[in-house]
Amino acid sequence: MPPYTRRDFLVNASAGAALATFSTNLLATESIPGTPVTTLLTSAFTTLHEPKPLPFSPAKLDGLSEKLISSHWGNNYTGSVKALNTVKQLIVTALNDANYPPFAYNDLKREHLLRTGSVVLHELYFHNLGGSGKPGETVKKALDDAFGNFDVWEKEFRRIGAGLSGGSGWVQLGYNLHTGLLENYWQWDHQHSPAATLPILVMDMYEHSYQLDYGAAAQGYVDAFFRNIQWDIVAFRLDKARQARALTAT
Ligand SMILES: [Fe+2]
Repeated sequence: MPPYTRRDFLVNASAGAALATFSTNLLATESIPGTPVTTLLTSAFTTLHEPKPLPFSPAKLDGLSEKLISSHWGNNYTGSVKALNTVKQLIVTALNDANYPPFAYNDLKREHLLRTGSVVLHELYFHNLGGSGKPGETVKKALDDAFGNFDVWEKEFRRIGAGLSGGSGWVQLGYNLHTGLLENYWQWDHQHSPAATLPILVMDMYEHSYQLDYGAAAQGYVDAFFRNIQWDIVAFRLDKARQARALTAT
């Protein structure tokens, strides 16, 4: 196989090449007069993201309109996917430029962090919607055990959501791999997440997630969110998180 150059990568990326993962022995070379730089093109730099389709029909949710869900998925989520892919291409260019200022490079890495958080959290969000809103016994017992009873968990989760209304952020039920605790977390944006924690259930509280249907009345959106929780996915994530804890706890 011939060497794969950065130019090849950029051309492919701009042509919409999806998930372009290259092996670690492929090199990109930069010809900057006086400062030749060679950078490995590994999956960390060249894996592009493809939007994941909604796991449900956007017309089928209870209290969350097709227009709202389609706009959220088509504009906010896929917009973050495109931005993430763009910033990764800019990072490759900057890394190959020996004269690129480190502080400016970190602007790109901050955007990389932000967009990665947005993409991942939105995918988790859409995939924990589309259900009946009725938890199964296993996950209900887990929340009973962690919070005293299920209602206390729901009360706190809703309370955090109410505190974020009118602004931006996420509510996360997370399983902390370090402490072994199942807790609710407040997140004010895409890039600040609880340490060593796997998201079990996430609720988007950015205004774009409800404004089309509820205006500034976020309470109605939170009610609708609860009616549409896909609890089978929540139970699946919790089971996997507990398995990970069993493998990693020291
Ligand atoms: Fe969102």
